[in-house]
Amino acid sequence: MRRIPLFIVGMCITLLFQDQVKWAQNPPPQVRAAEDGLALTPPMGWYPWNEFGQDPQNEKLIKEIADTLISSGMKGAGYVYVGPDEGRCFSRGADGKLTSNLAGYPSGLRGLGDYIHRRGLKYALYTDAGTHTCSKAMPGTKDHEFEDMAAFAAWRADYVKIDWCNTEGQNPAQSYTKLRDAQRAAGRPIVFSLCSWGEGEPWKWAASVGHLWRTTGDICAPGKADWSAAMGNTAANEKLFAAAGPGHWNDPDMLITGMAGLSETQNRSFFSLWCIMAAPLMAGNDLRKMTASTIQILTNREAIAINQDPLGIQGRIVRREGQAEIWARKPLFDGSQAVLVFNPGTTPTPVRVTWPDIGSVESAALYVRNLWTHQTTGPQRGGITVTVPPSDAALLRISKSNAFPTPPIIVADSYWLSFHAAGSETQKLTGAITLKTTGSDELPLWKVRSGLPPWLSVAVTKHGKSQTLANTVSTAGLAQGLYHAVVRADNIEPVSRQPMSAFYYDVDLEVGEAERK
Ligand code: GLA
Repeated sequence: MRRIPLFIVGMCITLLFQDQVKWAQNPPPQVRAAEDGLALTPPMGWYPWNEFGQDPQNEKLIKEIADTLISSGMKGAGYVYVGPDEGRCFSRGADGKLTSNLAGYPSGLRGLGDYIHRRGLKYALYTDAGTHTCSKAMPGTKDHEFEDMAAFAAWRADYVKIDWCNTEGQNPAQSYTKLRDAQRAAGRPIVFSLCSWGEGEPWKWAASVGHLWRTTGDICAPGKADWSAAMGNTAANEKLFAAAGPGHWNDPDMLITGMAGLSETQNRSFFSLWCIMAAPLMAGNDLRKMTASTIQILTNREAIAINQDPLGIQGRIVRREGQAEIWARKPLFDGSQAVLVFNPGTTPTPVRVTWPDIGSVESAALYVRNLWTHQTTGPQRGGITVTVPPSDAALLRISKSNAFPTPPIIVADSYWLSFHAAGSETQKLTGAITLKTTGSDELPLWKVRSGLPPWLSVAVTKHGKSQTLANTVSTAGLAQGLYHAVVRADNIEPVSRQPMSAFYYDVDLEVGEAERK
């Protein structure tokens, strides 16, 4: 692949999209992610609700899905958050504290989290801001905010979805802000997913409270993919484009791609819409029963590159031609532009996308890459005509260069290291976490944040697109007991110089117990 000198790409981005870049480099202090560095691109993962609803959810299902995220290639494409939605995961004991429901989750909720972390995935849990969750199967956080956020931290959650059922008399901004404060007090960095279905207009205030907020009602009833509801959610979410950015996303709900009742064309267009809207990509289908076509759609790295673009700009409809919609104004990290031509109508429609539609001059000579056929045409001047069949979509990337690099996606072999030191003599133990970057460019070395406990040190080395965080643990001076640290490492995307989502992992040390087998 021909490489464009970095300074030229940098200049193009600066000149063309000065405002967005300026904003993203200096996020206003009220954006919560400025502090924790989480979800600087839209979260990707899997949640059970769309396919399963409440009762089939249990530890066995979540573990099978976690395993399938890996075996299907979805983890490699960036899907990392996984865990139960509303099910029967926990109850509140007489002491007011949450306890795991061991009938459905025999390893306990911490045990399930360890299973997920050990496999290089991140742990998502669910709760509610009201007195109970929606079906009243579980207690909500109302008046227990601090103890419940402490429980989520103890279970090692990395992501919490907070629903809005049974909240009579509550104010969304106040309730979710209290939960944020409780989560900060619990001390664990957690992606906060607000789920008030647009109630309280979270796009106006929630950037300082959470990392994503639902903008709409549910996209479907469990097990029943609903194309027209998906189109309704798309229309509502599109209007809110100005509220989205790194660390603060509009969420039009989980994916229905791959659920029964949708055609291949609808699956592809739906995924394209979520990509250009920079919407969270939380798959909602049964991953254990995916067709080859569904896997190919969900793991299309060129489409995912649009969604995971480091500038984090939400595309929008710039023009309609007949029934077809032209979505654009989504500049990407390398100076290229994402464009979607979507035909929600019933007849094939030829559509002309002009260079002025994407903010360029008519005389520009531009390359066009089709992200579903993986073919590039051009350079051409003026524009391009595409004919889109009913319900289908052409997802395009348009650029002065024909390089079309993809931004980094991080794939880790594990998010958890656990050390056991037997006996009373000082021991040195080592363990490594390996990160691989998928994407066109190598990354600079990850920088480990200072402030590690004295018993832990971390050294980072690089081998091309792979980096190893070598952890050394020393028991010198430590009394018998359990020790825990959360390591944070930071990086930047080297072309746009945008900060990347912080990389966190857990290290446990148990001192003084007999050697484990
Ligand atoms: C709400 C949410 C859904 C799901 C259900 C669980 O309806 O919007 O995504 O979490 O609650 O009951």
